Amino acid sequence: MTLDVDSERFVTQLVARMTLEEKIGQLIQADIASVSPADVSRYHLGSVLAGGNSAPGGDVRASAAQWLTLADAFHAAALAPSTPDHPAVPLLFGIDAVHGNARIPGATVFPHNIGLGATHDPALLEEIGRASAAEVAAIGLDWTFAPTIAVARDPRWGRTYESYSEDPHEVADDATAFLYGLQGRPGTAEFLGYARTLASVKHFLGDGGTVRGRDQFDDRASEQTLRDVHGSPYAAALPAGALVVMASYSGWQGTKMHVERPLLTDVLKERWGFPGFVIGDWNAQEEIPGCTRDSCRAMLSAGIDLYMAPDSWQGLYEHLLADARAGKIPLARIDDAVHRILRVKKLAGLFDPERRVQRARAAPLTELGSAAHRALARRAVRESLVLLKNEHSLLPLDPRGRILVAGAAADDIGRQCGGWTIDWQGDHNSNADFPGATSILGGIREAVTAAGGVVEYQPDGRYTERPSAAVVVFGERPYAEYQGDRETLELTPEAANTLALLYRLRAAGIPVVSVFLSGRPLWVNRELNASTAFVAAWLPGSEGGGVADLLFAPRDGSAPREFTGRLGFSWPRSARPVRFDAAGDTHGALFPRGFGLSLSPRAAAATTAAPFTEDPGVASNSAAANLFQAGHVGAPWSVFVGDADGEVRLTGARQPSPRGLVTARLIAPDLRVSWSGRAGGSLRFGGRASDYTALARDGAAVVIRYRVDRPPRGSVRLGILCEAPYGTPPALAGEPWYRCGLRDGASFDLTRTFRASDPGAWNTLTLPLACFQTTGAHLEWVDSPLTLVADDRFSLRISEARVAAGEREPGDATPCPTARGRGG
Ligand code: BGC
Ligand code: BGC
Repeated sequence: MTLDVDSERFVTQLVARMTLEEKIGQLIQADIASVSPADVSRYHLGSVLAGGNSAPGGDVRASAAQWLTLADAFHAAALAPSTPDHPAVPLLFGIDAVHGNARIPGATVFPHNIGLGATHDPALLEEIGRASAAEVAAIGLDWTFAPTIAVARDPRWGRTYESYSEDPHEVADDATAFLYGLQGRPGTAEFLGYARTLASVKHFLGDGGTVRGRDQFDDRASEQTLRDVHGSPYAAALPAGALVVMASYSGWQGTKMHVERPLLTDVLKERWGFPGFVIGDWNAQEEIPGCTRDSCRAMLSAGIDLYMAPDSWQGLYEHLLADARAGKIPLARIDDAVHRILRVKKLAGLFDPERRVQRARAAPLTELGSAAHRALARRAVRESLVLLKNEHSLLPLDPRGRILVAGAAADDIGRQCGGWTIDWQGDHNSNADFPGATSILGGIREAVTAAGGVVEYQPDGRYTERPSAAVVVFGERPYAEYQGDRETLELTPEAANTLALLYRLRAAGIPVVSVFLSGRPLWVNRELNASTAFVAAWLPGSEGGGVADLLFAPRDGSAPREFTGRLGFSWPRSARPVRFDAAGDTHGALFPRGFGLSLSPRAAAATTAAPFTEDPGVASNSAAANLFQAGHVGAPWSVFVGDADGEVRLTGARQPSPRGLVTARLIAPDLRVSWSGRAGGSLRFGGRASDYTALARDGAAVVIRYRVDRPPRGSVRLGILCEAPYGTPPALAGEPWYRCGLRDGASFDLTRTFRASDPGAWNTLTLPLACFQTTGAHLEWVDSPLTLVADDRFSLRISEARVAAGEREPGDATPCPTARGRGG
């Protein structure tokens, strides 16, 4: 991109007039949950963000008008302390508008990237980018952390749905189109003009290629794969006008990307001539060896320009300032980072008073969820649907028939939308959170009723009158980031109910269309076999009407709309991910990338042949939860180390807690944990909250194989944590444990057990879940089945940890530890 001389001069002059404090402030981005407009003026902060759960007044259901008010307050604060000597620098305010401005109730929610990739329609993506930009601008924000241009290579990765395709060229094309839409085309007057939004391409580099698809872990790809697969979308995004690159939490060959200077600086900035700035990811400094939550100049040295420091902004600001004053950071690096940030602000028009007036005057909240945007989203849904099976040319259905609609996801807009919707995980939403939106059932009702047909909706499929056809909607529940990681590509347990439902309908001779909602291709051979027709609908978003548009023939008898969606990802033949060989060819696909049937009878015949194997190809695992085994943290579990300053997830070989009080080390095959003894801290296995009551009844227990390396000097408690009531801030050690319904928390004092075990000898600890119930704990929302809290020096290694059923016979009297929990 060519930089214009006047802008460059403007920025150079501005930087020259800034104090060191003002410069450091530009390098820091705080989260609105932890910073006030007054802080922004006082520290001259360059940027704020609204994190996945952050919203005006802490209420993720705040209205668009409240967002606008909040944005105005922050923008005004940045501009307030202006003096002729130190002109105010406008603020960049970013949000994860990753599938439309979907954090805002009432916004248009577009299909997630995996669905957009299946449309193979860059012109559509450009329009969606433009509409998304308008909806972001409508609430007074300037910037989105999108698009993700990861090339996801293992669908066990929880972020697969943020990826357009497994193919780098497709991702490159989609990224280019989407950037054109969000920002306008570079070199035209539209570029970053009014109602366009600054984009971010993320996560640089190799996020989609981590080992076993574990989020934020190490990518061990060869340099060639890193360049040709994961790098090529960036090579396309830069000329398309990308001005912000977000670094990846993941590492490459053992080095975290946030300190990978050869790639951030030498390749991206120097060799490729990237003129914009690199933003770090959310508190990424905590995962960098040698850094702490409050201090990490190594990231700046490596090439990070803007620190995403949600709640750590003040400490980082102060340490960077002190380091700069002490000469530990070259001034030239600081000036370069500031220059890059200001250059982007200048190019984004933020210094333009006219732009500000436009923003203030227009306040086009009407853009949010407008009829035009919803129509566009509905079209995107239609184009994203991939038809995998259409036996006997069942589709399109006759809308004048009697249609049974069933399945847990048929009338659930939250499930259509997936993660990054209203809040981070998107798993607390009901239809009421989506004013103006349409569920898949809603769309079917509209189409069928208008044609004179009848819809019967029974989530469990138990109809009152025999239908002419059934539409069953099922699939994954919402998740985001590592909470979506999986060990295999099997469907979750609830799928068993769906299968039973499909069998029942088939036995009754009722033709069934399965509509499958998922953030990735999953192993669904049994469901495919049991369905007459099968449609992969991805995560379609707020406009569920797009599904009915293709399921039903037009009522006027005109030609039906065609299925044009084609897979952007190989669909696996077993519950193992497909494998890519060195040449980039895939092995193990049931349907290759590019597959998708049209309505023609010939296409339908193609899948009418033999049924697919019903062997998932993975060992069925009787353990309810494998937390840790053979040096591997089992998905969707994560290890967190915590202390009074919060928690950090282990994603590398060694991870200290924010204050360094607890350190976890992965030294295969063991997990070694040590408490420094300076103050208390915790080790926690956390995942997705689930109901453990049935498991407890079946005698399930938490089982740990461990050895004590250094006996506990103080007390050690072992407990479970439950999901906190919605909206509670994350668990901090030192605060009471998330209580599982108990005032004092659900934990046992195991100090004596650990003191009594010989240092160096391996032991097995079995703690029946029912023991927690004897303390009165409720097990409906357990999200950590294993948490260890020590208040003084202690170290142990764990070789295996699991929650396993059948560890205790019903009626068995394995004693529960006696000492009752007294809080964390
Ligand atoms: C994610 C980013 C996101 C950021 C802000 C991080 O955890 O990795 O993709 O933009 O949070 O919410
Ligand atoms: C935030 C997200 C962020 C995530 C990172 C969440 O609490 O809301 O924005 O991406 O943490 O772990």
